[in-house]
Amino acid sequence: MSVIHALTGKKILLGISGGIAAYKCAELTRRLKDQGADVRIVMTSSAKEFITPLTMQAVSGHAIADDLLDPNAEAGMGHIELAKWADIVLLAPATANLIARLRAGLADELLTTLCLATPSPIAVSPAMNMEMYQAAATQENISVLALRGLLIWGPGEGPQACGDIGPGRMLEPQQLVARVVDFFNVPHAVFADVNITITAGPTQEALDPVRYISNHSSGKMGFSLAEVAQKMGANVTLISGPVNLTTPTNVKRIDVKTALEMHKASLENLNSCDIFIACAAVADYRPEVVAQHKMKKQQGIDDLTLKLVKNPDIIADVAKDKNRPFCVGFAAETKDVECYAKDKLKRKNLDLIAANDVAKAGQGFNSEKNALSVFSAQQRFDIKLADKKAVAHQLLEIIYQQYKQ
Ligand code: PMT
Repeated sequence: MSVIHALTGKKILLGISGGIAAYKCAELTRRLKDQGADVRIVMTSSAKEFITPLTMQAVSGHAIADDLLDPNAEAGMGHIELAKWADIVLLAPATANLIARLRAGLADELLTTLCLATPSPIAVSPAMNMEMYQAAATQENISVLALRGLLIWGPGEGPQACGDIGPGRMLEPQQLVARVVDFFNVPHAVFADVNITITAGPTQEALDPVRYISNHSSGKMGFSLAEVAQKMGANVTLISGPVNLTTPTNVKRIDVKTALEMHKASLENLNSCDIFIACAAVADYRPEVVAQHKMKKQQGIDDLTLKLVKNPDIIADVAKDKNRPFCVGFAAETKDVECYAKDKLKRKNLDLIAANDVAKAGQGFNSEKNALSVFSAQQRFDIKLADKKAVAHQLLEIIYQQYKQ
């Protein structure tokens, strides 16, 4: 089983300076590692007053670098090597003092020296008292760093350790992890000249002019796939049920309401389709009869029987077509997720299926995040809980690897 994390293989140099927010760095390191990153830590001398090197060594799994003139450290990964090793240098918390030293280009201890020596991008997460943050000198220093191309992440606003309320809080560990994930989430254009059709959102099956049967689906997962696939170079057609979302840039969108309309639009697009991704939550059944006028409550009758008829299975029909594209389905399940997903993979003759456990809170329908287990006939890949765009990117990387085989 391969576990795919948003930061697998990424090397992050976390530079900690001496502010009260340093205590959050243990949590930050753990969350970065959860996403697969290798984290090495450099501490300024004042950072060690706020959190111990021993704690940071334990959570990162590496010895802490803190001394520019340490012959033992230089015999291992020396400071220039460390500066070259990082894919990104994250300075969190970055105090007013550290920011001023960076602006001046000082190399007065290991962390500032590394910042001068590194060819890698540097992200600065300011953390200080709000008056210090708003001081003209600090604002000017931050502007100069931004002009030099350093990334400025934060600060956040809220209550501060000193009792003031305002801007100056270090971003929370999860927010910083999301920034790092976003930073690396620049997709490669592996889908150049590949036509991808994606279904998204729910379908609505009318009972009468005012009521319908539908499924929970915001369309966010499908729209994220469309946006990321387009950035990866694909020509994307998005067949969407009724949702409240903006069409991603350079994506061709076809709006439909019912499963029958989604079925027709999907089959009509097949001769120019290389990959078909069925993310829509399609209603399996529709009312046999759609009342012409609003159905009225019957006096004295407390129940109502509706006759439903089966809708066509869109992806199963796509997979049967003579122009069969590479077919990727989704399975939203509340129990026995793997078992049902594998059954759908086989029954619908798919190449891949992405299973959502929608019984878990905070993922799947409507939420901003998702986690997927992806199955082919032979393999399983797990995508950890993350923002839907990050999940879309990881799923599209898996699709690409399987499609090109
Ligand atoms: O839209 P969001 O709020 O972001 O939520 C995303 C999601 C949870 C809807 C999405 O990730 C998801 O899991 N979609 C599939 C939902 C589902 O209920 O699938 P299913 O188990 O009913 O169907 C299996 C597969 O067959 C799906 O690929 C589905 O699109 C497809 N299908 C189903 C029925 C049908 N008549 N035609 C189909 O093509």
